Amino acid sequence: MSVKLLKKQSYTVAVIGATGVVGKESLEILEERKFPLAGLRLFASKRSAGQSLACQGREWRVEELTPDGPFAGIDLAFISATDAISREYAPRLADAGAIVIDDSAVFRMDADVPLVVPEVNAHALDAAVRGIIAIPNCTTTPLVMVLEPLHRAVIVKRVVVTTFQSVSGTGTAAMDELVKQTRDLLSFREVKAEVYPHQIAFNCLPQIGSFGEGGECSEETKIVNETRKILEEPQMRITATTVRVPVLRCHSEAVNIETERPLTPNEARALLAAMPGVVVFDEPVRQLYPMPLDAAGKDEVYVGRIREDLSITNGLNLWLVSDNLRKGAALNAVQIAEALIARA
Ligand SMILES: NC(=O)c1ccc[n+]([C@@H]2O[C@H](COP(=O)([O-])OP(=O)(O)OC[C@H]3O[C@@H](n4cnc5c(N)ncnc54)[C@H](OP(=O)(O)O)[C@@H]3O)[C@@H](O)[C@H]2O)c1
Repeated sequence: MSVKLLKKQSYTVAVIGATGVVGKESLEILEERKFPLAGLRLFASKRSAGQSLACQGREWRVEELTPDGPFAGIDLAFISATDAISREYAPRLADAGAIVIDDSAVFRMDADVPLVVPEVNAHALDAAVRGIIAIPNCTTTPLVMVLEPLHRAVIVKRVVVTTFQSVSGTGTAAMDELVKQTRDLLSFREVKAEVYPHQIAFNCLPQIGSFGEGGECSEETKIVNETRKILEEPQMRITATTVRVPVLRCHSEAVNIETERPLTPNEARALLAAMPGVVVFDEPVRQLYPMPLDAAGKDEVYVGRIREDLSITNGLNLWLVSDNLRKGAALNAVQIAEALIARA
């Protein structure tokens, strides 16, 4: 039987990893969307305990996360910390009665954990039997938002995606590293790489995560598996190359799509424009196309450079940009909570 949120006027919410770049974005989004909060519990490591963070006009004290909690009374818990924290605390919070919306990769591929982008597969929430719901990787979410309407219309046969991922996807330490390396380079000082295996400033790293036996990165495998799970197409042919670029915020993706039936670029634009959460921004003659600087802080997935791929039958190329901290992480999680409330 699926775990359901009880209907209430307002809910006690916990944010685990509240001091991180995704956690702080979650607080902003809870405020912006006037989320019905009865209470807010903020958790982080011992380093941050005692700090306070603002949300909905109040200051909330950060607690140290320990196995003792206490977690009773929490209705909804957003976890955005580390894989190890998710592995240990998601079951603890669910056992204490919370519905957990988890940002890590730990549970995403578990058969009894829904992996949800509400605009695409909110129906999967009905299968939340363990009280844990996962949100996809920050590159998978915008990709499925764009594939979904095209797939339903003309059947997507194969996808070739190359990502250009910002450093905020790795968290606060990586953002600090890009800024510091840039400053050091421009001041003729020695540059140190600590978060990434190589200098990221003025560079591109064709590695996100660890390498598997076939030479693929773990991030590439996540995109393939998660896209198939969300679109409920376990055999869909997808291949990915993931690249870290010296951009602070927003992930971009170059997507090549082969469809079963023909689709003109104008038909694709119309299908994408009708998809909730997607904005078509595609006027190349005026040099208008989506870019990370424009999409930062925005909720929508922006799509442009939509054009025919003349090298294959029924081929389409497009370019998408999405804020990895919002739709790629915190916003998607809050939208899942809102969908649960709507179903309560
Ligand atoms: N960034 C993205 O675009 C993105 C997108 C999708 C998913 N995610 C996932 O979201 C999670 C958080 O990412 P982030 O980018 O926000 O990272 P981050 O900026 O490094 O923040 C990490 C958070 O986890 C907390 N934390 C770390 N170790 C802890 C411990 N032992 N006990 C309690 N809290 C601890 C940190 O607390 P302190 O401040 O006290 O250290 C901080 O609040 C990761 O699982 C990541 O894979 C991130």
